[in-house]
Amino acid sequence: MRRGSVVQLVAIGAVCGAGAALVALLIPWMPHAASEQAGRIDFVFWFVTAICIAIFALVAAVILYAIVKFRAQPGEDADGPPIHGNTGLEIAWTAVPAVLVTAISIVSAVVLAKNEHIPHASAASSDRLTPLVVKVTAQQFAWSFQYPGFGKLTSATLKLPINVTTKLRITSLDVTHSFWVPEFGQKEDAVPGLETTLVITPDRQGTFPVICTELCGLGHAVMRSSAQVMTSQRFLSWAKGQQKQLGSSSGGASGKAVFTNNGCASCHTFTPAGSKGTVGPDLDKLAQEAQRAGKPLQDFIRESIVDPNAYVEPGFQKGIMPATFSSLPKAQLAALVSFLAGGKK
Ligand code: CUA
Repeated sequence: MRRGSVVQLVAIGAVCGAGAALVALLIPWMPHAASEQAGRIDFVFWFVTAICIAIFALVAAVILYAIVKFRAQPGEDADGPPIHGNTGLEIAWTAVPAVLVTAISIVSAVVLAKNEHIPHASAASSDRLTPLVVKVTAQQFAWSFQYPGFGKLTSATLKLPINVTTKLRITSLDVTHSFWVPEFGQKEDAVPGLETTLVITPDRQGTFPVICTELCGLGHAVMRSSAQVMTSQRFLSWAKGQQKQLGSSSGGASGKAVFTNNGCASCHTFTPAGSKGTVGPDLDKLAQEAQRAGKPLQDFIRESIVDPNAYVEPGFQKGIMPATFSSLPKAQLAALVSFLAGGKK
């Protein structure tokens, strides 16, 4: 091959490669990573993308060069000269892809292994944060997060301390859902009767969306929550504050805290709690609804929580509200009923 042709090929390849690299770099294709695991996944992505851009540049250069250089002249309709194989070229185009694919497999395997690794708590540490365990429960159409290391603490939003490895133990009460925080870079199915796990080490503070990414019914699109990453001190003081507010032994459970922590707000509108959900009935109109059901207000509220299908408000469907709130601790249920009845606490 003449030197001029090589220079031309390299020039075309450089232009095509630069164009593809600009498209890859200038458009924000991926969410801004907020966990160590997402950072590693991004690395694999960029590793593969760089290889793809190089191959694209090579192929595009050869195609464009051939289109221009070997174009049939007007009136030229004879067959091209017969050619024989090129052993060197054939070895190269087999060996190079084999090496690249092997490299991608090794990098991916290392990242997968690292992303599933949970550091063991040292025997000396009595720290409840190594690792932090959070039970994630999905149900149509809400998420709830429970912290077994902190008593009966539950929350409707996922609160996580920064730089602490957290093990999510995920399950579902009804159908298959899927847990996804784009900034954490991973998805994990929530399957009824099964516990799946996901390891997250957040490395950036902020509030990120928790999204259900498995079509799970009518309310799938609204099955959202949020994940808030904060400093360890702030996390611990939040957890302690919540434990105090929900403290059933002292009888001082706050109805508003019970409402918020159990995710009521994601489906119901209730002004005293500042919620605007529209999946379920408007709780600002509980008095009228109790009248329609023909029951005293407090009894009506209690029944609707522990046995949601006993009376269903016209315009809403049976079986949408989870029946699991019947297992709320007594003091929390009482506090929730009086909060809903009169906005107490
Ligand atoms: Cu739960 Cu979609």
